[in-house]
Amino acid sequence: MTAPQPYGEKLMRITEKNQLTSDKTLEEAKEMLCSFTGAKEVLFTGRAASGLYLALRLIREKRKDIEVPEIILPALSCSTAANCAIMAGYKVRFADVNPQTALPDPETMQALAGPSTIALVFIHLFGNTTHLQQLAAWCKQNNIALVEDLVHSVMPDTANTRCSGTFGDFVIFSFNAPKILSGGGGALCMRDDAAIERIAALLHEPPYKQAAEPALRKQLALGYRHLHHQLVHHDRSGDGFDIHSFFMGIRQAFDALMWLPEVPAGFDPAKQLSGLSENYARRMDKARIYLEALRDVEGISVITSLGPGENCWRFSFCIKQAEKLFDFSEKLRNDGFHVSNLYWPPNRFFNPADACPNANKIARSIVNLWVDDAVSTAEVKACLTSVQKHVNAMEHLSSK
Ligand SMILES: Cc1ncc(COP(=O)(O)O)c(C=O)c1O
Repeated sequence: MTAPQPYGEKLMRITEKNQLTSDKTLEEAKEMLCSFTGAKEVLFTGRAASGLYLALRLIREKRKDIEVPEIILPALSCSTAANCAIMAGYKVRFADVNPQTALPDPETMQALAGPSTIALVFIHLFGNTTHLQQLAAWCKQNNIALVEDLVHSVMPDTANTRCSGTFGDFVIFSFNAPKILSGGGGALCMRDDAAIERIAALLHEPPYKQAAEPALRKQLALGYRHLHHQLVHHDRSGDGFDIHSFFMGIRQAFDALMWLPEVPAGFDPAKQLSGLSENYARRMDKARIYLEALRDVEGISVITSLGPGENCWRFSFCIKQAEKLFDFSEKLRNDGFHVSNLYWPPNRFFNPADACPNANKIARSIVNLWVDDAVSTAEVKACLTSVQKHVNAMEHLSSK
């Protein structure tokens, strides 16, 4: 463990009224995060998005020479990173993903860089940290700030062969389920002393008045969810509805959801972090059951490969007959298992001019299976049998 840093006395978390305050009860979690990432300071926030937004503001502050800065983001993820970037005044650019890993290759990200590019967010989506090191070196050479979003890949040191979390200028953590960690809240890890000093001032600048009241936030969150699902539905069906213009016209109405300063009552990140090795081992055991049985199965292509430096958020694979995705997912649900089909490519909402055909293809064929504590090993085995049965039936029908 690293020794506590001097800033610990001064700032640790944001209060409801957008003030920085110290909080001794978070000292242990701070030490763990600093030891994990090599950061100098940690700021605890109500959610990861608030930390990400602040990181992007700080990065922008250092590059006042660029009027409209650009940021490079992956074309498969939730919409949080793009929303935060737009709020912080960036033009968002999306890098298409490699069909095997569902992550952008470094070359694809690099090809988007231009004179206005000042930041890149690397999301270890589904737990994969492939190419992180290479990308970090390139960012450094090109004066591009790197933000690591560890939300899906946070790992104990023992498994952390590629040292995810140690490369980013800023690193964000989420303790909001259904990520790897739970319990609520988020954290921003920082290496730059000047950035730490600047946060206090930023908190008094627009657009931050206050976070929306919890009841309003609940309503807004529900509204945003419905809107998102409806727009994905239109986009998926290819009915020609312009989801980008529609979404961008009302996107700002949901900014109040991105900013949540205050960590929840009873926030105990140290407890979550200290259970990480066991959390990781339980996830990997379940993911291995899927991988060993499914890696060579006709009709699917596995995304979660559990290579070095890989944790597993959900076990993900694509079905080759994409037009059967809903039917297939529904069959698994009817057999009693959790299935999701996340994510819809954010470029479709935020910048469709960046065409990302691979992300589009994956979004139309992906199946994510649970490996967390919501499911037992016996349920994983039963779910595997259900997957095998329905994949076989699909293949059998198509070969007729
Ligand atoms: C990859 C990723 N990063 C960041 C976030 C945001 O986390 P939080 O809900 O703590 O703001 C999410 C979820 O929305 C996510 O999936």
